[in-house]
Amino acid sequence: MLERTVLFLSMASDSNSSIESVLQEQRVFPPSSDISKRGQIGSLETYQRMFNDAKKDPEKFWREAALKELSWFEPFKKVLDWSNPPFARWFDGGKTNLSFNCLDRHLDSDKADKYALIWEGEPGDVRRFTYRELYHEVCRTANALKALGVGKGDLVALYMPMIPEAAIAMLACARIGAPHSVVFGGFSSEALRDRLVDGEAKAVITADGGYRKDKAVPLKPAVDAALADNSCPSVQSVLVVQRTKEKIHMEDGRDSWWHELVPTQKRECQAEPMDSEARLFVLYTSGSTGKPKGVVHTTAGYNLWAHLTFQWIFDIREDDVYWCTADVGWITGHSYIVYGPLSNGATTVMYEGAPRPSKPGAFWELIQKHGITIFYTAPTAIRAFMKSGRSVPDKYDMTSLRLLGTVGEPINPEAWIWYREVIGGGRCPIVDTWWQTETGGVMISPLPGATPTKPGSATLPLPGIEADVVDEKGHSVAPDEGGYLVIRRPWPGMMRTVHGNKQRFRESYWEYLRPEDGSLIYFAGDGARRDVDGYFWVMGRVDDVINVSGHRLGTMEIESALVSHNAVSEAAVVGRQDDLKGEGIVAFVTLESGREVTESLLKELREHVGEEIGPIARPDEIRCSDALPKTRSGKIMRRILRALASGEEISGDTSTLEDRSVLEKLRS
Ligand code: WTA
Repeated sequence: MLERTVLFLSMASDSNSSIESVLQEQRVFPPSSDISKRGQIGSLETYQRMFNDAKKDPEKFWREAALKELSWFEPFKKVLDWSNPPFARWFDGGKTNLSFNCLDRHLDSDKADKYALIWEGEPGDVRRFTYRELYHEVCRTANALKALGVGKGDLVALYMPMIPEAAIAMLACARIGAPHSVVFGGFSSEALRDRLVDGEAKAVITADGGYRKDKAVPLKPAVDAALADNSCPSVQSVLVVQRTKEKIHMEDGRDSWWHELVPTQKRECQAEPMDSEARLFVLYTSGSTGKPKGVVHTTAGYNLWAHLTFQWIFDIREDDVYWCTADVGWITGHSYIVYGPLSNGATTVMYEGAPRPSKPGAFWELIQKHGITIFYTAPTAIRAFMKSGRSVPDKYDMTSLRLLGTVGEPINPEAWIWYREVIGGGRCPIVDTWWQTETGGVMISPLPGATPTKPGSATLPLPGIEADVVDEKGHSVAPDEGGYLVIRRPWPGMMRTVHGNKQRFRESYWEYLRPEDGSLIYFAGDGARRDVDGYFWVMGRVDDVINVSGHRLGTMEIESALVSHNAVSEAAVVGRQDDLKGEGIVAFVTLESGREVTESLLKELREHVGEEIGPIARPDEIRCSDALPKTRSGKIMRRILRALASGEEISGDTSTLEDRSVLEKLRS
């Protein structure tokens, strides 16, 4: 990792164009005056007061927030137990339920008949659920899960397209205290199997298929493949939603149809009072080493953080129609399609499709049609829209919009300005939100009524979050110097552990940087700098994680996938800057002796990675050579591969390279 850090620190002073533009970006946009007047955090002073209150007396700050924002079956006794760091316990002694907080508590108010969820399918079918309707659907599904023998503590895996049943299933799991593990529907059966085995899932919820780019894409066959040969013995039942009506295999005694089982259930199901620290969900994410990690989140702390951040950042009001374009298979879908919005009683929109050649204006049409007021998407999408020009969005009436957000990767100032002008009509503030699967919710972001924004900067940490940029010893670095982005204190939404691997949790997040004073600081892989105003500028990952279109992929996972092909003897994967996707994937491989490099083999290797992990992990380029650059101790020199991948000069010391002729061969 150090190698990459050095590269990134030196990048900050190189004449690399996008970095340069970030460094020179000095425009400042004041917060929206409308939001300042009407919003709940209406000035920088209010933000600063909250921030300082939280810093001075965190216990008081979090206690008051938890009592005010969540409903409790039993009050908690202790705000934070940090006696065994880094294993935190928040709101110990309390009992609550996330599904209750998202549904039941809204039924006594006008919200009961307000839309909770508006969903649009790719073919244009629309379904709407009021809070009351959603409540009954969730109760029925919870009862169906019980009928399948799923109980408190049993892990349920979801492998679904973006249909309402995905959100309903998540809420049903939370309702009965069965942690869920949502696996992105774009992952392969191999990736699904790994996650089912690691989590010892008891049941799987899936669909026959979903719609993508104007066609039906099957899902259930991947579940069948993952479960074949009794490879996941813990899985006892599979619940299948009928979406595409394609013919699929249904295994006797194991598989049941959602439309046969769920509607016949009772429409009431008591929410299970759950301990604050009960496991709520596991979500797998890529790290720099080994297999993806199962990030564990627990009930009360996660609920509070998703709730509060949603309320603060999106300045949510009663009549808002909020849309986040993420997939529920990622943390953004968990926190900001389902739990944050519903916990606040907001109307959340879910879309099965994506812009595609037949419908380039799909997003804008949805905004116009549903009167969307708040829109949250990824920089990679914005860059793609920019490329096809403003003539597409200009065809639609998007005057309903009042607030825009971005997440997932650094946004370049050009895209930020375009988003503001073309999509936001110059009047909508932008919230650039920095966070991670591990943090549960947003950590650094402007508050739209309070924070002046600078294009490309996620601005300031939220109240309660002590973020910093430090050197290897944990010392804060000077303004405008690059360093590691860290969090210095525990917060309620923090991940609790890596599923089944406490040691990995401790080592990869809390012991990577070791301050001399022995304090523990959280680091999850990003580099950043802070400017003289204290604004954070996130520069991207400094570990071996590649961020492709906002999706996290570990280079090691892709390497293992390549090496599992019988033609490959060794592989090294690096990222390279990509104007559209943020980062692209370049793989260097050496073939088994006797294997020839052919176009068809390269294609096969790409496809193979797609099958092992999922299409998003397919390398953009594969280069074959008879050796990889290594040190004398046999370590692959990735710094050199990164330079080669992006066509840059190889700078720095190459004297440790074992065989210098390798360089020449790889260059040619
Ligand atoms: C990156 C997604 C810059 C970062 C919520 C982080 C960002 C990783 C931003 C987490 C942002 C996310 N600016 N970089 N606003 N938001 N990232 O776990 O590298 O899928 O570590 O969570 O995305 O990705 P994850």
